[in-house]
Amino acid sequence: MPYYRVVGEVPRKRHVQFRRPDGGLYAEELMGEEGFSSDSSLLYHRHLPTAIIKAEAVEPTTATALTPNLPLSPRHFRTQDLPAGGDLVTGRGLLAGNADVRMSYAASETPSELYRNSMGDECVYIASGRVRFESTYGAIEAGEGDYVVIPTGTIHRWVPQGRVTAFAIEAAGHIRPPKRYLSTHGQFLEHAPYCERDLRTPQETLTVEGEEVPVLVRTRGGLTRLVYRNHPFDVVGWDGCLYPYAFNINDFEPIVKRTHAPPPVHQTFEGPNFVICSFCPRPLDFHPDAVPIPYNHHNVDSDELMFYAGGDYTARKGSGIDVGSISLHPAGFTHGPQPGAVEAVIEAVRQGHTETSELAVMVDTFRPLDLGPAGLSVEDPAYAWTWAR
Ligand SMILES: [Fe+2]
Repeated sequence: MPYYRVVGEVPRKRHVQFRRPDGGLYAEELMGEEGFSSDSSLLYHRHLPTAIIKAEAVEPTTATALTPNLPLSPRHFRTQDLPAGGDLVTGRGLLAGNADVRMSYAASETPSELYRNSMGDECVYIASGRVRFESTYGAIEAGEGDYVVIPTGTIHRWVPQGRVTAFAIEAAGHIRPPKRYLSTHGQFLEHAPYCERDLRTPQETLTVEGEEVPVLVRTRGGLTRLVYRNHPFDVVGWDGCLYPYAFNINDFEPIVKRTHAPPPVHQTFEGPNFVICSFCPRPLDFHPDAVPIPYNHHNVDSDELMFYAGGDYTARKGSGIDVGSISLHPAGFTHGPQPGAVEAVIEAVRQGHTETSELAVMVDTFRPLDLGPAGLSVEDPAYAWTWAR
């Protein structure tokens, strides 16, 4: 993250002696991106963050094999039909992915064990319910519409308060606000659709006592369970520009035009070879002759995966798409509104309709997406032919 924060107690200078009340030293830990050359934070632990006492390989609990999108086809996956189970980490059903990013869906009310994704950042969109995100940096209370962005390597767990559904985006790298919305020094610019005040970060440290504490660690090689001698939630203070944060989709200020604006106006985050966009309730395009709905388009360089999170998505009317659905419109296929949708929205505007209530999260990838087992298990096979009805 681009701006500096301090939580809890930290010494006046970095890398100097910082002592506990009993006279012993706190253990300083740097969490830093790109080999000491990018954002970082310094955390001060009561115990050594290096003290592990056991390591064991872990078999994945859900299927993770990806298959190419062949024969090439637009897809509709109904996450509404996926079974609940596991927790918000191990219960993720893989919808689609490639070497840059993986998208999953989870529905659970079970707290997760401690988890560290060392392959990349995660952006977890909470579709429904309330959940407490706990980490070495502290806790964040999250709920419907929150993107929770978790830096690579952050030890954390999810504690749902009742049933929670989530759309998880796992990057093979870092997820950040779009560069064009930031000054050269990292401050959000005035034309950005959100800014620092919209980001919710841990406000205080979180201490949990415990010994022999397992942490599930995900690396390129697979899953490992490392057992720590002491509970990793033992930080008395941290400071820096790297930390988890939440951003609610309803705090995204939509950018509108008189005629239809393309998806980059909805961009919220960027990752390696993908972007994340938020389609939010907003005024319909307001030129007197506007066609206030997407035009048919063929993005030759990207696959578009969209999670329909709420409201009414006019362009997909009659296609079977509903709240909870995922559409995948791959490169190689021209997509656009369903038949009759253009005429219907023009008529709605004529009758005084001025707003769209759509709420959706889109991930555009710059390399083709393969299909995941959870997605294929709830595919609507009729979707591909709905434009030809
Ligand atoms: Fe599109």
